[in-house]
Amino acid sequence: MNILTFETNEELNEVGAGIIASLVQTKPNAVLGLATGSTPIGIYEELIKLYQKGRVSFKHATTFNLDEYIGLPEDHPESYRTFMNEKLFNHIDIPLEQTHVPNGNAADLEKECRDYDDMLTNSKQIDLQILGLGHNGHIGFNEPDQSLNSGTHIVQLKEETRKANARFFNSIDEVPTQAITMGVGTILKAKMIILVVRGAEKAAIVQRALQGAITTDVPASLLQTHPNVVVLLDKEAGGMLS
Ligand code: F6R
Repeated sequence: MNILTFETNEELNEVGAGIIASLVQTKPNAVLGLATGSTPIGIYEELIKLYQKGRVSFKHATTFNLDEYIGLPEDHPESYRTFMNEKLFNHIDIPLEQTHVPNGNAADLEKECRDYDDMLTNSKQIDLQILGLGHNGHIGFNEPDQSLNSGTHIVQLKEETRKANARFFNSIDEVPTQAITMGVGTILKAKMIILVVRGAEKAAIVQRALQGAITTDVPASLLQTHPNVVVLLDKEAGGMLS
């Protein structure tokens, strides 16, 4: 695990975007695993700048997002499909049909999960997966539990996660209670993983995830078993690492 700590968010964003852009420059048909939430936004903004300067094209890339709420209309301002279109896809040259976000309104949600996993197992392997980190150690929406699902599945969101995400909605009652998420097994199949974390309030969970015991109580600690993880931290998030 290669842990890099940055003085400023600008530097972190440039390095994160630089890693993604170099991959797509050397492998134009790269498969990218993407995250939503506040953490990756600065990296997506840098990627858009690189695209606008003509340094990188996403015409042949494919993307798979980690997760999506269940029951929010696709065009709801807080759906992860809307997030990705607005924060990245609408500003670069990737054809939308090459972008994948689980469909949280599928008539058969179990089938949607199986189909999503089939795409990732049978035809596409993720070259580079971007992850943020939940305050409780979740990655994707894999919440702490006694055991973790390997493949894409339906998850009941923990109250702490709904509270953390309520900042994007008018009230906590509007935050969905369920989501579809790639499983930890699917995430760990990516060839390379970049975990990005910002802010002092995540310093303790960063320490547990990276230097604590490998346990399903901290799903991100399973990243310690992956051979190719780069961790990008601002200095606040890295503040408790020894
Ligand atoms: C988002 C996702 C989540 C977030 C995590 C951190 O697709 O899978 O695991 O990365 O909840 O969220 P932020 O970045 O908003 O602090």
